[in-house]
Amino acid sequence: MARHLITSALPYINGIKHLGNMVGSMLPADVYARFLRQTGRETIYICATDEHGTPAELAAKEAGLAVDAYCAQQHDAQKAIYQGFNLSFDYFGRSSSAENREITQHFARKLKENGFIEERAIRQVYSLADERFLPDRYIVGTCPHCGYDKARGDQCENCTRVLDPTDLVDARSAISGSSDLEVRETKHLFLLQSKLQGEVEAFIDEHGKDWPVLASSIARKWLTEGLHDRAITRDLDWGVPVPADTWPELAAEGKVFYVWFDAPVEYIGATKEWADQAPAERDWKSWWYEAEDVRYTQFMAKDNVPFHTVMFPATELGTREPWKKVDYVKAFNWLTYYGGKFSTSQKRGIFTDAALELLPADYWRYFLMANAPESDDTSFTWELFAASVNKDLADTLGNFVNRVLSFSRKRFGDHVPAGLEAGAAEAALGEEVARLLLEYQEHMEALQFRKAAQALRALWSAGNSYLETKAPWLEIKTNPDGAALTLRTAMNLIHLYAIVSEPFIPASAAVMRSAFQLPDDNATWVSHDEACSLSFVPEGTPFTVPPVLFAKITEEDLESYRERFGSAEA
Ligand code: MF3
Ligand code: ZN
Repeated sequence: MARHLITSALPYINGIKHLGNMVGSMLPADVYARFLRQTGRETIYICATDEHGTPAELAAKEAGLAVDAYCAQQHDAQKAIYQGFNLSFDYFGRSSSAENREITQHFARKLKENGFIEERAIRQVYSLADERFLPDRYIVGTCPHCGYDKARGDQCENCTRVLDPTDLVDARSAISGSSDLEVRETKHLFLLQSKLQGEVEAFIDEHGKDWPVLASSIARKWLTEGLHDRAITRDLDWGVPVPADTWPELAAEGKVFYVWFDAPVEYIGATKEWADQAPAERDWKSWWYEAEDVRYTQFMAKDNVPFHTVMFPATELGTREPWKKVDYVKAFNWLTYYGGKFSTSQKRGIFTDAALELLPADYWRYFLMANAPESDDTSFTWELFAASVNKDLADTLGNFVNRVLSFSRKRFGDHVPAGLEAGAAEAALGEEVARLLLEYQEHMEALQFRKAAQALRALWSAGNSYLETKAPWLEIKTNPDGAALTLRTAMNLIHLYAIVSEPFIPASAAVMRSAFQLPDDNATWVSHDEACSLSFVPEGTPFTVPPVLFAKITEEDLESYRERFGSAEA
């Protein structure tokens, strides 16, 4: 049986992420990892903060901190939020780790040995006042296309055109504001991706055919446009240094690798960080090197697809070493906020820290996954969010759990009641539950999260229909033993829900699970037969009634959310 390696795109270190980032990478990876673990597959889920690059340096400067101190602080802040969301990382690392430095440098040496890295002289903007080169965002000026006067060296935010720092009109340093600039010649390392075009194409032909169209079509588009050689070093203080043993001159000049060169390597680096914490039990290399029994699934938003499907595979292939390449790429469209972009810089939309202050993680987890932007963009609106929480979580699931347990306690005390043997209605319910469970599993195996959520909802509804039909609150008057059977069966459903809902709503699942004091409750999943017979919780099992699982979102709540976060159509 395959071992499963799961990674989600590494969140940039600067700034707290918004819900769009969450649903496009970490959250679905967590749901999938939880499902695989529950169904008995050996699984590791690895993520990390992406800490290098000019945005990190500039954000540190703005915060008045040294960049390493800034990154350490931001890493902890993000990690705490992900814990709050119940993300079950096996390891959440840092791309600035020693492990990543070592492996990134190894990759670079191998690529050079094999003729895929070469030194080239290029012309770059140098600031005399700052005594340094000004890469990417370190230079600002007027966009030659649209006239916007705060365009950055790598891109104009106004017209979105990609720029070269030397294109800017009236260019000045983003550090000192000085316009005392000149163009100087300097050497950089180039990754000769053009030489690897054919091999990457063969890789996509072989693996990409099973990927969602969103991922494979973006990969193909990039390949059709042709792979270009790219500069993979920068003149920055912060980053993985170019190894001095291989490029003494560039190392002496203080060059570091470009952030997109070392970031994907951190998937491997973080696995090593994980293993280095318990070297006796963990073998990072077995997951990444000659790892034929590993199935590797990546999660990311669509803007990350080219880097993961084309550039990182090219880098791996160029080492001429058997590094594990991605087997399946799960890519996502955008979550929008009332049809407009979530924007970190404009603070538009809902950020992960604010979300957790408002409501428990399960509300967000369920809503986001049930509406994941899989085949199209999804628009977040408070109205949709409230409707889905109130109907699915509060009415269908939460109310069922509370109603059944409190009614049974009131009539039969705090042990699962005995009563009649299961009859035809219970057999029919078992069949239906088993069928829906199979559906649910199939969608999860296929990483079709919206469909999986739909099947989960159908499982919750099946309990409600059964209860409505049997109406134990009426049955109790004429046939108490029959009512006891109904309640006992419904309690068995609660236990089943506790198990199968865990990937989506782990905290609530744990509460449901702990309602029953079972002597040995270590089942991780439900088999077909168990679903049919619904007899996990035998009569006489003590139980407690948990507090209301999900509170409804009221009109007043909605009003205040709309006011606080804005709700205008974009
Ligand atoms: N930090 C990037 C982003 O948020 C993703 C990096 S993914 C990795 O868009 F490949 F670099 F790891
Ligand atoms: Zn412009």
